Amino acid sequence: MKSATFLVLLPTFLSASLVFGAKFPLSDVKRVTNLPIVQNQFIIEVDDLSNIPTKRSFVRSLDAVYASLQERAVRFDVNKEFDASGLFVGASLTINNSQDVAAIASTPGVKAIRPVVRIAGPKPVFSHVVTGLTDPLVPPDSESTHILTGVDKLHAQGITGTGIKIGIIDTGIDYTHPFLGGGIGPGHKVIGGFDFVGDAYDGTNTPMPDNDPLDQCNGHGTHVGGIIGANPGNPFNISGVAFGASITSYRVFGCAGSVTDDILVEALLRGVSEGQDILTMSLGGADGWTESTSSVVSSRISANGKIVTIAAGNDGSSGSWYTSSPGNAINAISVASLDNTVIPLQNATVGGVQHDPITYFATFPLAIDGALPIFATSTDTTIVDDACNPLPDTTPDLSKFLVVVRRGTCTFVQKLTNIAAKGGVNTFIYDNGNGFAGISVGNFTAVLIQAADGEFLVQQFAAKAPVTISFPQVGGSFNFPDPNGGLISSFTSYGPSNDFFFKPAVAAPGGNILSTFPVPLGSFAVLSGTSMATPFVAASSALLLSVKGKSQAVTSSARTLFETTAKAVASSKTDGDPLQTLTQQGAGLINVFDAIHAETIVSPGELILNDTAHFKPVQTFTVKNVGKTPQTFKLQHVPAGTALTVQAGTIFPADGPVPLSSTAASVTLVPSSFTVRPGQTQTVVAVFKAPTSLDPTTFPVFSGFIQLVGPTVSQSFHVSYLGLAGNLKDKQVIDDTDEFFGVPLPTALDSTGNVQDGPTNYTFVNGDGPTLLFRLTFGTPALRIDLVNSDINFKPTIQSRALGGLPFFSFPHPHSGGTFAQVKIVGSLAELDFITRNNDDPTDNGSNSLFLDTPTFANGTVIPNGQYRGLVRALKVTGNPAVEADYESWLSPIIGIQAPPS
Ligand SMILES: *[C@@H]1O[C@H](CO)[C@@H](O)[C@H](O)[C@H]1NC(C)=O
Ligand SMILES: *[C@@H]1O[C@H](CO)[C@@H](O)[C@H](O)[C@H]1NC(C)=O
Ligand SMILES: *[C@@H]1O[C@H](CO)[C@@H](O)[C@H](O)[C@H]1NC(C)=O
Ligand SMILES: *[C@@H]1O[C@H](CO)[C@@H](O)[C@H](O)[C@H]1NC(C)=O
Ligand SMILES: *[C@@H]1O[C@H](CO)[C@@H](O)[C@H](O)[C@H]1NC(C)=O
Ligand SMILES: *[C@@H]1O[C@H](CO)[C@@H](O)[C@H](O)[C@H]1NC(C)=O
Ligand SMILES: *[C@@H]1O[C@H](CO)[C@@H](O)[C@H](O)[C@H]1NC(C)=O
Ligand SMILES: *[C@@H]1O[C@H](CO)[C@@H](O)[C@H](O)[C@H]1NC(C)=O
Repeated sequence: MKSATFLVLLPTFLSASLVFGAKFPLSDVKRVTNLPIVQNQFIIEVDDLSNIPTKRSFVRSLDAVYASLQERAVRFDVNKEFDASGLFVGASLTINNSQDVAAIASTPGVKAIRPVVRIAGPKPVFSHVVTGLTDPLVPPDSESTHILTGVDKLHAQGITGTGIKIGIIDTGIDYTHPFLGGGIGPGHKVIGGFDFVGDAYDGTNTPMPDNDPLDQCNGHGTHVGGIIGANPGNPFNISGVAFGASITSYRVFGCAGSVTDDILVEALLRGVSEGQDILTMSLGGADGWTESTSSVVSSRISANGKIVTIAAGNDGSSGSWYTSSPGNAINAISVASLDNTVIPLQNATVGGVQHDPITYFATFPLAIDGALPIFATSTDTTIVDDACNPLPDTTPDLSKFLVVVRRGTCTFVQKLTNIAAKGGVNTFIYDNGNGFAGISVGNFTAVLIQAADGEFLVQQFAAKAPVTISFPQVGGSFNFPDPNGGLISSFTSYGPSNDFFFKPAVAAPGGNILSTFPVPLGSFAVLSGTSMATPFVAASSALLLSVKGKSQAVTSSARTLFETTAKAVASSKTDGDPLQTLTQQGAGLINVFDAIHAETIVSPGELILNDTAHFKPVQTFTVKNVGKTPQTFKLQHVPAGTALTVQAGTIFPADGPVPLSSTAASVTLVPSSFTVRPGQTQTVVAVFKAPTSLDPTTFPVFSGFIQLVGPTVSQSFHVSYLGLAGNLKDKQVIDDTDEFFGVPLPTALDSTGNVQDGPTNYTFVNGDGPTLLFRLTFGTPALRIDLVNSDINFKPTIQSRALGGLPFFSFPHPHSGGTFAQVKIVGSLAELDFITRNNDDPTDNGSNSLFLDTPTFANGTVIPNGQYRGLVRALKVTGNPAVEADYESWLSPIIGIQAPPS
């Protein structure tokens, strides 16, 4: 679990070797291209027919565009068409020849062409399947999430979302679940749905659509469905936030794997055409920009009278500027997760010595009879790699013992495998400070206990005390007060987006949530993730619409209403620590009761000050009295912790939990108190000054609230603000250090995987081609990789050991005008727009490696044999694409193309 770090003083300069803790071996780099795009597939968006010059007459603008494409001899297959006039008209195409991309981009009527991207399947941060309804134990009331957000009070008023339609875009739903209505179709809770993919779909194979969104193999969508709509009266005393609402399930994931975003677009548009009032997506992937097709379409749907709620993402450990797509859709509601205040856990009883019960991390008791003696695999309670190696020959048969082992170094499964080799079947793993949470132990019977309990048991074992542990099957249930309960879940992805949008928007309970699960998979489960927080806001929106109606006025102001009535969340449980940065909590924890019963409408909910180069210090908002009595407010500035988003003195983003500083902005508010009469509106002017004393190399993102303190907490409001005490254009994009791999980057690897040390000729026979290895420490709006003559007179901004060239994905458009176009290139190897940065997980998105396996330009044309260099250019955020000086650049050593004649 999270231990927040506060740096009220400026952090000392981190010595370079501390940046990542360790360097990663170059031999880990795979000679493949690892960007999440689907080869040769693109989504085009087309203009209105009236804007397309054409000699023939067409009924559909798509047909006019297809005809022009055919005239240009572009060969394409149509995978899907999108025909939602006013929202998105276009098609998903497969193009056999990548050189046709340029021709398509310049075809009249094509408004945009974007690569199809793949979005990984939802992965809950923590998952525990509860053993079933027949279990004798009823875990403690999970309505804590409803109490936290005022939903319990709305339910008491009979507000349950009746008459509202929610479309869930997810893994499908197990509508056979007795607490999800037991069926599908009119008259049921789940009124319909569609399966776009089929069980076997994994994101790379052919989808097999059908009409039945049943999911009994994955479970994620059923958990989401229960958070929205589980019927009360179940043994767990949980209920959906909007259990009176109707659900439609759009299944876009198979039992496992990912989905391509053209399917998401299809599902979103079908949801609109089928009249859903609310669409919710607990899915996404790190992106950082607001420009992906699914983000753009989600945003337009939100702007057109629907509410769209989308998970903020679970990449909190990767730090700031790492928003998820489509979660960062400009007009949608991006949802952060808050940890539940209680976790339903179990107690074991200690025998033989006097000791309190030991709480273990499981929702239901381990099915273990009798009292077990204990065996500790080490008597050293500071051992870092307990049981990571095979246990010594002197180890007794462990089958009769409860084995006690310390967490750390290797996987839980590895420890348990070593223990099983000595007969061990039941294990307590005690925490080493990593945090008391759910763990993955495969098929083994093992649970996590807290560090102090483990240390106690090991000491007793060392002292040969006659300790035993037993597992009461009834009465051991314990409402464990989560030490982080009520705080933002540390896994929540941090914003802002690279184009400085306020993401996430609001928080809702998402950590340790008990909800429904497919019947064959156990019927109930506890899961954690922004995936769980998102349906909470979708269902809260249903409560809102069921009270206020579905008009565009209500839907388009819903986000603002939730934001202005949300409650600020602290960054820790320690008094005096600042509020959590708004880049992770958004406007705070939603309070649905206060939102629905607000007698004052404050707007806008977000004041975006942007960076220092585009600073908007003067902001206004309005305060309208929609109640029946005069309202008096006193205004206060309540700053949150300033997020030090980059490690001081380095170019590397700070990992989460992002360190916070108490140095905040200052604000002048005019007026600072006022009374608004019923029907009247007061305008407030806020003039901001960014904090000036912070280390600019940390790219401090400051944020906080303008609070309107009313007569009660329920009739108090806040407006959120966000700004950067720095210039985004100053943020270095390309990693030019040797911190990550121990060799200066970017670099080219030769066909043996070693750094290319000088001019090298490649034959492209039997895999003899260069691999480019680079890392982005920040997002870039434009990455251009060109081939230039080896004797080019060009001074790159990065002067490292010069190396390799590379292609990966082509998107060449003509460059015209500006100093950028004056750099003489031989041809384009790759063009990518709106790229996210890398994180520092070598097994995930730590670097990009791009393998040039054939000597071809991005457009597919063969590169003539010759001596070249690769030129890599990345546009800085807010840079001008036409201005060469706004790019970082790097020139490779000489790459010789020496392909044999074909
Ligand atoms: C991140 O890494 C995963 C796993 O290798 C990959 O599937 C995904 O496409 C990568 N995402 C990005 C944005 O590069
Ligand atoms: C693209 O290539 C595939 C496989 O060779 C072929 O089946 C398909 O017909 C081609 N499509 C076009 C439009 O040429
Ligand atoms: C569940 O709800 C019922 C009815 O409100 C109540 O009597 C019971 O005490 C609750 N059980 C728990 C474990 O909270
Ligand atoms: C469970 O164990 C904790 C820690 O020893 C103790 O505080 C709590 O009272 C116990 N609860 C139950 C129901 O046994
Ligand atoms: C768990 O055990 C079951 C049944 O023996 C087996 O089918 C499954 O593959 C095992 N899973 C793992 C992760 O070992
Ligand atoms: C912040 O400023 C940049 C540069 O002008 C602009 O592109 C971006 O849209 C702005 N962000 C917001 C949310 O207004
Ligand atoms: C690469 O090939 C060219 C043309 O044959 C030759 O002039 C050059 O010396 C070769 N370079 C290396 C490093 O072998
Ligand atoms: C592909 O790009 C190269 C290099 O810019 C250019 O010489 C060639 O004409 C292009 N081919 C086509 C078919 O556009």
